[in-house]
Amino acid sequence: MKESELAELLALADPAACDALYRRAYRVKCEHVGRRVSLRGLVECGNICAKDCFYCGIRRSNSAQERYSLAHGEIVAAARFAADAGYGSIAIQSGEIESEAHTQFIEEVLHEIAPLGLGVTLSLGEQEEPVYRRWRAAGATRYLLRIETSDPGFYSELHPPECSFSRRVECLRALKRCGYQTGTGVMIGVPGQTVEMLARDIAFFREIDADMIGMGPWIEHPDAPFPASGKTVLPRPDRLRLALNMIAAVRIELKDVNIAAATALQALDPRGREKGLLAGANVMMPNIIEGCRRKSYRLYEGKPDGDETSAAAREALARSVAAIGEEILWRQHGDSPHFRAPAVSGE
Ligand code: 5AD
Repeated sequence: MKESELAELLALADPAACDALYRRAYRVKCEHVGRRVSLRGLVECGNICAKDCFYCGIRRSNSAQERYSLAHGEIVAAARFAADAGYGSIAIQSGEIESEAHTQFIEEVLHEIAPLGLGVTLSLGEQEEPVYRRWRAAGATRYLLRIETSDPGFYSELHPPECSFSRRVECLRALKRCGYQTGTGVMIGVPGQTVEMLARDIAFFREIDADMIGMGPWIEHPDAPFPASGKTVLPRPDRLRLALNMIAAVRIELKDVNIAAATALQALDPRGREKGLLAGANVMMPNIIEGCRRKSYRLYEGKPDGDETSAAAREALARSVAAIGEEILWRQHGDSPHFRAPAVSGE
């Protein structure tokens, strides 16, 4: 599809037109990935971050944020929980830290959880290629690094000068070279972002040959300097709609990639994740770290922190998926069907 056509789809606001878009995306999803949901038990293993992204709650200079990092044993215990619960995969996520100590720490965790046989996604930010290689060798098979926006000018409005757009792109290329199923994505409905930018983001995903897409609506954070006062903020229902339109457009364009129904969707609507599945997403990432720590991983305001670890919560998840006529792929890695498939040709 041409970028202008994609932009038109993204701009749809009429409820009937949006429903038709989601149904079209759903048909593409059924054909390429089926009516199945893969789970990733999400382990937010620390909120110490070297980056100072203007929109983010765990940015380095947010001194209002208490910091934590999980111990080796806590991450391993969470992975065991995920294996016992039949999640099939985990995603290990943290603020961005580049150091030999951190690299080794993650390496050791990966070695220890390898016998559990889980699919392991990492989301640990920008690193040097040898670090990506070491983690790959230690057992990680997927890596998620959102580009946030593929528009370099807009990127520099959202990030301080020390954050280099080109390094981030280079990291994505390095991840592909290292043999990871590589995921990227953007925030949706960011003040100042246009549907044309989002359409180009989809072209960027294709060009990078992304295997997985993780996207969610932008949500304000009270301690973040972005957006400056006076910037127009899209009302929350409009942001939810735009996020669903974007999921649908990505599914229609990229077809066989894994697309996550992000937690941020749920922050805007209690049924946000299910709506994401119906618009074309096929992955859910329930948080599996219990208790107060979860509350410290506040990327944005109102991040859901309900307990998703209990048996009751797991049943609720299965019920909500069954209610939309889908099935959870228990005990499977849920790899991206796009991975190793030939690159999608432009059509
Ligand atoms: N709203 C929505 N998503 C956010 N992220 C960070 N801050 C926000 C926010 N205010 C997302 C970014 C990042 C991921 C870890 O969290 O896309 O990649």
